[in-house]
Amino acid sequence: MMSLDNFQKIVRSPIIPYVETMTAGLLPGELVIIRGSVPEDSERFQVDFQCGNSTKPRADVAFHFNPRFKRSGCVVCNTLQNERWGHEEITYEMPFGKGKPFEIIFMVLRDKFQVSVNGKHLLLYKHKINLEKIDTLGIYGKVEISLIGFVSNKSLQGSQPTLLGTTKKNTGNEELPDSSQFVLPYVARLHSSLEPGRTIVIKGEVKEKAQSFAINLKPSDSSDIALHLNPRMKDKAFVRNSYLLNGWGEEEKHIAYFPFSPGMYFELIILCKEHQYNVAINGVHTLEYKHRFKQLNKINTVEILGDIELLDVRSW
Ligand SMILES: *[C@@H]1O[C@H](CO)[C@@H](O)[C@H](O)[C@H]1NC(C)=O
Ligand SMILES: *[C@@H]1O[C@H](CO)[C@@H](O)[C@H](O)[C@H]1NC(C)=O
Repeated sequence: MMSLDNFQKIVRSPIIPYVETMTAGLLPGELVIIRGSVPEDSERFQVDFQCGNSTKPRADVAFHFNPRFKRSGCVVCNTLQNERWGHEEITYEMPFGKGKPFEIIFMVLRDKFQVSVNGKHLLLYKHKINLEKIDTLGIYGKVEISLIGFVSNKSLQGSQPTLLGTTKKNTGNEELPDSSQFVLPYVARLHSSLEPGRTIVIKGEVKEKAQSFAINLKPSDSSDIALHLNPRMKDKAFVRNSYLLNGWGEEEKHIAYFPFSPGMYFELIILCKEHQYNVAINGVHTLEYKHRFKQLNKINTVEILGDIELLDVRSW
């Protein structure tokens, strides 16, 4: 779970229905975190990102997030504009349960909301109403809320991240931090080689029709690949391997659940430790990979390819 230190603002145990003006609005990159539990007799509850708090006429609801518990349950998302509901977007995967606690994270992105529940990606909802118009958060229905937290779009960055020195082969010699440097395949030299304690952060968005993508950490003086991370969307497989002495080793595939989904924004963090790499995705520890290529100080190159839009690569 996210540390409370990151929260810009916290509301504890609000009374439901809860309606509050968010004076600063919502910015891309911000998180709204809601922790609570579902009473045994709940039939539904909803979190509404509203444009104002008027009840007559009812304020527009840019994003209506509505878990329903009848039968096997579902989550209904919709937009209310001029007192008219739009087209329902229904997710039948149901992460909420009666009598169970939950943590919802609403990540505000430029073009959509991305929602995860209990650390697992749940759904995307494209903005139907301009983000700037949202200024009110409403929570209604049968639900107990213990905490609402707001995380500003600055606090997610690591301590002192620095851009990698890019050594792209096919785009001039400039090292300007413009987005063209994130064209795939992407190859960059780490400004110092790998060692325990080093962190690499890769931000991107999985393409809608993605098949797979790969992230490789490698030395520059051979064709070896020390760490090959290869999520495959269709099979929902997250393959990890190394390419040593002109051959692939044994694939590691075990995973608690597949963390990627089409269109999903992600921040993938590789932490190099003494005996292994730890990989986290959107703040959730996802896997470990024991070092097979042990000369860590030779690893100086990051390579990224496949079906993602690459947004940022940093290391420190
Ligand atoms: C409703 O919105 C107005 C204008 O933003 C605000 O001043 C007022 O405090 C809000 N009322 C409630 C109950 O949140
Ligand atoms: C945070 O919000 C500001 C203001 O809208 C924006 O310029 C900036 O790009 C946002 N940061 C991220 C990481 O999205």
